[in-house]
Amino acid sequence: MEVQARGVAKVFPNRRRGDVEAIAHVDMDVAPGEFVSILGPSGCGKSTFLYIVGGFVEATGGSVSVGGTPITGPGPERGIVFQEFALFPWKTVHGNITYGLAEQGLSRREQQERAEHYIHMVGLQGMERLYPKELSGGMKQRVAIARTLATDPDVLLMDEPLGALDAQTRAEMQTELSSIWERTGKTVLFVTHAVEEALFFSDRVVVFSQRPARIKSVVDVEIPRPRDRKGILRDPRFAELHHHLWDLLHETRPSTQTGAATAEAPVDGG
Ligand SMILES: Nc1ncnc2c1ncn2[C@@H]1O[C@H](COP(=O)(O)OP(=O)(O)OP(=O)(O)O)[C@@H](O)[C@H]1O
Ligand SMILES: [Mg+2]
Repeated sequence: MEVQARGVAKVFPNRRRGDVEAIAHVDMDVAPGEFVSILGPSGCGKSTFLYIVGGFVEATGGSVSVGGTPITGPGPERGIVFQEFALFPWKTVHGNITYGLAEQGLSRREQQERAEHYIHMVGLQGMERLYPKELSGGMKQRVAIARTLATDPDVLLMDEPLGALDAQTRAEMQTELSSIWERTGKTVLFVTHAVEEALFFSDRVVVFSQRPARIKSVVDVEIPRPRDRKGILRDPRFAELHHHLWDLLHETRPSTQTGAATAEAPVDGG
């Protein structure tokens, strides 16, 4: 399913301290099956944009359509992983994951099978009966990912979904998510702070300006697939794109100029 944003704008009204303009103007087209990442400085409006596409926050200007239909709120074709996990504190790991499946009308057995599959995928076997307060940040984040994947939405909206994970788990989840995407052809809109992660996953990387967000640049990632995390680090295109995106994020050169590879390009893979 394609996602189409036209002139999306958002102002958060605040009478005492003055209104906050989070998004000035964003046009975006994500093709069916495309993986697009959003990079941008902290506080620039990335989450707000994702929540508007998810239907959780209402835009004050412009419109978003998904699969050709203008959105009016959340919908089952869009699955979102919130930056703050947003688990139900009164439900166990298992209960959090099966909640959406029950809503979709799956039988008990189907719920159980789906839950087991995704619990295994995110490496939380044996923790099914724990409550969110008993989990580490990284575990909670993995529950949030499993919960969203389990409902099998056409469009995945992920807000720094791997940000709370240790390097090892993060690498495993990157490989896992990337293979899910390759297998299922889901449309993904992915917010991250990690340049190398954006390059590993994406067909295109959209760079947002400082708040209020506008699109500063759109970078095509022409690195052949399938990509593997180690191999990509040796690809000269990776170094070049990494350098270019790094510069865009740190505003050291005009956004229209293309980047050139240098020996100093950070290629540590994160
Ligand atoms: N519900 C809200 N009410 C008022 N202001 C808000 C609300 N949500 C976000 N904002 C403001 O909108 C701006 C953009 O916030 P947003 O969370 O979208 O940034 P972000 O790019 O996701 O940042 P980060 O990278 O740190 O997650 C910020 O100035 C924030 O304070
Ligand atoms: Mg955010």
